[in-house]
Amino acid sequence: MTNIDNAIKQFESVMRDQLERVERMKQNREPTDYSKLDKIIIGVCGGDGIGPIITKESARVLRFLLSDEVAAGRVEFRNIDGLTIENRVACMKAIPDDVLAELKACHVILKGPTTTPRAGDPWPNIESANVAMRKELDLFANVRPVKVPDKGIDWTFFRENTEGAYTLGSCGCNVTDELAVDFTVTTTEGTERIARLAYEYARNNKKDRVSIITKANVVKTTDGKFLRICQEIGKDYPEITTDDWYIDITTAKLIDKKRRTAFKVFVLPNLYGDIITDEAAEFQGGVGTAGSANIGNKYAMFEAIHGSAPRMITEGRGQFADPCSMLRAAVMLLSHIGYQVKADLLERALDICMYEEKKLTITGRDTGCTCEQFGDYVMQTVESLIK
Ligand code: IPM
Ligand code: MG
Repeated sequence: MTNIDNAIKQFESVMRDQLERVERMKQNREPTDYSKLDKIIIGVCGGDGIGPIITKESARVLRFLLSDEVAAGRVEFRNIDGLTIENRVACMKAIPDDVLAELKACHVILKGPTTTPRAGDPWPNIESANVAMRKELDLFANVRPVKVPDKGIDWTFFRENTEGAYTLGSCGCNVTDELAVDFTVTTTEGTERIARLAYEYARNNKKDRVSIITKANVVKTTDGKFLRICQEIGKDYPEITTDDWYIDITTAKLIDKKRRTAFKVFVLPNLYGDIITDEAAEFQGGVGTAGSANIGNKYAMFEAIHGSAPRMITEGRGQFADPCSMLRAAVMLLSHIGYQVKADLLERALDICMYEEKKLTITGRDTGCTCEQFGDYVMQTVESLIK
């Protein structure tokens, strides 16, 4: 068989999988109504590097905020082990089967960063656990807020989370030794659902602008489709101004002090969303300060936007890791499952601890407080707000 025949076979198989995925998406349009559940199960999954340390801290604060609900049996926390790089490599799976089954038995998940191998690493180049989880649980919207009140920055990014360059990121094709090809995917259903969520958020939160970010002038088919569908959905929201920008100029405009405050809500394909949300988080103090919600119709997962910082562990600084990203993720988790008052309370406490009172600071080393001390500080602040 020729190289091209092999490539065609691979292409056929990935396209069939994608068409099946489209059908599955259509059958799963109904979002979970958390208020109707007898009990909400929150899975806590530590991950690698500093992941277990900052996740434990965030879960401790969450348990504190939800202690009445836990006592009443309305909420249950479950620890899920086994999403470590060692275990994933031992099974040669992005998510080991038993871990996936445990994740699927929860309603929402608080997940620490996991190490993602790349070519040349000591680990085999298995798929990212993050990407696999987003796909397995069909977590189609990666919602990432960035706020810097004194600079007038209040952005919410709706990053498409199951398509684009990511969906087949581990299924590229080396046609020959000379030629490698990757795939980028846009579907109608996948774009409509992320666009709808972004516009609904804008409407419900009185944000008067949604910016669609693509590179549709060059990536004409997939980005072109993404742009066109988002614009179509936007027509159902006449009170909201829709504009569209290319990703390159958007990255520039985020540092333009005069123009950037006009941005409110962004909707964008996966890879652009990945890149620009790290840039955006930098204005607010870096990726360590930013949490994110991965929202699907059935499940939702809440995490930091950064990686597992293995160097902090090898250098023995793990206990000084900053839990703020995971605490911001906890705010989004509380809000998602219907505890908006508690979410607001935690968010307020975090703003006080991180930006206003700053009685303790986290530096990532012994010049600052420990992760646990910061967690205590946040809980004391919550208590002082309730009194
Ligand atoms: C993120 C991360 C992940 C991504 C990595 C760890 C696979 O950078 O959540 O933004 O690229 O999505
Ligand atoms: Mg990223």
